Amino acid sequence: MSDGKASPATAIRLEGIDLSLGRGAARVHVLRGISLAVARGEAVGLVGPSGSGKSTLLMVMAGLERPDAGRVVVEETDLVGLDEDALARFRGRRIGIVFQSFHLVPTMTALENVALPLELADRPGAHARARAELEAVGLGHRLHHYPAQLSGGEQQRVAIARAVAPDPAILVADEPTGNLDETTGRQIVDLLFRLKRDRGATLVLVTHDNGLARLCDRTVRLRSGVVEEAVAA
Ligand SMILES: Nc1ncnc2c1ncn2[C@@H]1O[C@H](COP(=O)(O)OP(=O)(O)O)[C@@H](O)[C@H]1O
Ligand SMILES: [Mg+2]
Repeated sequence: MSDGKASPATAIRLEGIDLSLGRGAARVHVLRGISLAVARGEAVGLVGPSGSGKSTLLMVMAGLERPDAGRVVVEETDLVGLDEDALARFRGRRIGIVFQSFHLVPTMTALENVALPLELADRPGAHARARAELEAVGLGHRLHHYPAQLSGGEQQRVAIARAVAPDPAILVADEPTGNLDETTGRQIVDLLFRLKRDRGATLVLVTHDNGLARLCDRTVRLRSGVVEEAVAA
């Protein structure tokens, strides 16, 4: 945009993103000049072959990877201009992240896992809020279980409760059903889209599942680090 600011209707704006990862002979030019805008409240499915850069692009949007070049504007904040502390604070308040392999802290109970980001953000009543979030994902009876004592679907519910607990504007999910059977995966998808709707969040998810991609408002296809096509659903 000419004035350099994202419009309020834009949740995520990427401009000319370039990123290489790895060292020496293992260095890979992963993202090659990617520009993309995601509207507030939109659900976007990122698809494309394995190795095309989907996870890396999602991490750039989430402020977990810094691009070598380009702009990343999320909720009108230029992430490239933030130092590490400010970026971590921004992520904690504004961005919820769900991974394929759940990424729960194994030594913490479900309740402690969900309370953690709230405590890190100095939210009052973190445990009461965490309990309510777990009840909202149907896990009111598993508050004091450790991740290893939960099924894959239950662990992903905990991870989703943890992601949405701080009420982020942006939810990103990297193959959230990739480690789950079809029935459980469907339930997780329903849950993710319900929470997105209820909270008016913007959702960007990486998926191999055509059924899941069709639930999104729009699909963006990557190939070898460039946007191949963007199709409205
Ligand atoms: N830390 C890294 N060092 C070197 N290469 C990497 C690193 N992370 C990812 N890559 C490479 O970048 C490419 C894109 O990876 P990724 O974003 O995980 O793709 P996708 O999620 O679409 O499968 C792959 O070729 C991968 O091997
Ligand atoms: Mg990936």
